[in-house]
Amino acid sequence: MCGIVGYTGGHQAAPILLDGLSRLEYRGYDSAGLAVRNGESLAEVVKATGKLYHLADKTDQGRSLIGTCGIGHTRWATHGDPSVTNAHPHVSGNCTGSGSGAVESDVVGVHNGIIENFAELKEKLLHHGYQFYSDTDTEVVVKLVDYYYKKYKIGPIDAITRTMVRVRGSYALALMFRDYPGEIFAARKDSPLIIGTADEAAYLASDVPAILKYTRQVYYIDNLQAARIAPGSVKFYDLNGDEVSLPLTEITWDAAAAEKGGYEHFMLKEIHEQPTAVRDTLNSLVKDGQIDLSATGLTDDVIGSLTQVDIVACGSAWHVGMAAQYVIEDLVKLPVRVELASEFRYRSIPMPGNTLVIVISQSGETADSLAALRVAKERGATTLAVVNVVGSTIAREADHVLYTLAGPEIAVATTKAYSAQLAALDVLAVQMAFLRGTVSGDQYTHLLEELATIPDKIRRVLEDKERLQWFSSKIVNAHDIFFIGRGLDYAISLEGSLKMKEISYIHSEAYAAGELKHGTISLIENNTLVIGVLTQSQLFEKTVSNMVECKSRGAYLMGITTNGNFAVEDSVNFTVYVPRTDEHFVSSLAVIPLQLLAYYTSVNRGLDVDKPRNLAKSVTVE
Ligand code: G6P
Repeated sequence: MCGIVGYTGGHQAAPILLDGLSRLEYRGYDSAGLAVRNGESLAEVVKATGKLYHLADKTDQGRSLIGTCGIGHTRWATHGDPSVTNAHPHVSGNCTGSGSGAVESDVVGVHNGIIENFAELKEKLLHHGYQFYSDTDTEVVVKLVDYYYKKYKIGPIDAITRTMVRVRGSYALALMFRDYPGEIFAARKDSPLIIGTADEAAYLASDVPAILKYTRQVYYIDNLQAARIAPGSVKFYDLNGDEVSLPLTEITWDAAAAEKGGYEHFMLKEIHEQPTAVRDTLNSLVKDGQIDLSATGLTDDVIGSLTQVDIVACGSAWHVGMAAQYVIEDLVKLPVRVELASEFRYRSIPMPGNTLVIVISQSGETADSLAALRVAKERGATTLAVVNVVGSTIAREADHVLYTLAGPEIAVATTKAYSAQLAALDVLAVQMAFLRGTVSGDQYTHLLEELATIPDKIRRVLEDKERLQWFSSKIVNAHDIFFIGRGLDYAISLEGSLKMKEISYIHSEAYAAGELKHGTISLIENNTLVIGVLTQSQLFEKTVSNMVECKSRGAYLMGITTNGNFAVEDSVNFTVYVPRTDEHFVSSLAVIPLQLLAYYTSVNRGLDVDKPRNLAKSVTVE
């Protein structure tokens, strides 16, 4: 949500900023803007609503904005509608109009996050003679920095730290000061921001892909820290304005990982990267036939003493938790609770004994998941983050971190990060079961052998994609789709339904198959598509019966089951088979056809697969 980039160095800034913003498009946005300075001159601000190419067109692909220092922003509207006036950058001057052009302002800035007390601060600034042209909380922050800067005649860092003390909420801020040509100042609390260095240049961005083309040397600026960035020089400061040092991290991602690599969409590429994402994640946790969780810091003693597991997450990561719940309960025999982070954070959930709270998050920046993690820590739970983005806030704040190795995920609808999370949770379940004696040594070996086959089996499911492409053309005009299953199959149905609705905009719902009769079945009409997930042998017949009940009310049926269950074809109109595997792990296979079905349906409907409307990859506001 919102993307920030910054560059200062020897090259023209605007094309670099536009390129960086294009790599942050996945975060979701509805308008964009740039501010560029040429030496001592005033900052020139250009903004546009809609897709990034409007901004690129307005600036002749960045060429018409002269200057080697600048900041850029993609905005996902929170305060104020998506208009040119509300688009960032925002300026400190009392300008009329939209705050565009060569701006007579001492401070120009971009912001990601939400300033909760902006109304109160705006009142204060109005009282001091400031005028406002936009509805945004960002304009308030920029003007507040300007206010302290002038009132106390202090430097940019002191003005920024005073502002940080005064504002409530979350922010990643990048600011340019008229008196400091060639420099960018930044601050961060609870919104992502990284700073990259290179010879005679420096960069800042909300996420690594924006700057990976230029540098692999990055700093992860901490919460409540500020930074001063000049070509080849980066300095960090704490809230007192005292300089602090931060470690420089080398990004090891392959730059190609953040490119489409010949695929039509990032989502399709990421679907195909799942065998690798799962294999890499498994290989990082299983060595020489033994699970090794030492990198997470979770000791055998901690695992042995647990009395309860709570899993907290949002969106697809929550669906991973739902699936893991069944696996942990069955293998480890521990009570497991799965909660939506947005609910968990406001509930008074007791955490008796030794509770392990597992926060699952691809980005490691989801606001609700981060808040839930903090609540869990306050209540004395041991916390484990299962996170994909190295150095993200959730990863840094949790007691223990288990990194999934899915690589950068760009499409808003997650696929490979989801699969890597599922694999990570499966490994965790097996290790917990082994250490707590709920599976034998032989079962442990069998489970690990089965897990090791998953990447190749995913590859085999992907080979069947043309059938799903064909089937998707039949359902392209569907109004409603119902996904049903029991147990683990229900957890997979939840994910299949979310994938479908988020990128195809077809209404879909997932139901525990046994619940159908309690209301939902009244929604079944002639040709309503019902997709049953049927991978759990004990529950197979029950779900088939539920599907047949739908069919007798006119439904059209698709079934996903494991190879060999051919009898299902007697009841179901279209069947997809996935390879047989231990039933605890078969969800890793069953989800793949559902991802493909959603993908091809979105393509067939001519939609923006990678950037569905109104959605953001990383939801960094509540
Ligand atoms: C957004 C994304 C989903 C993701 C969810 C949680 O809604 O579109 O794909 O599952 O956020 O994100 P996280 O980064 O915490 O896994």
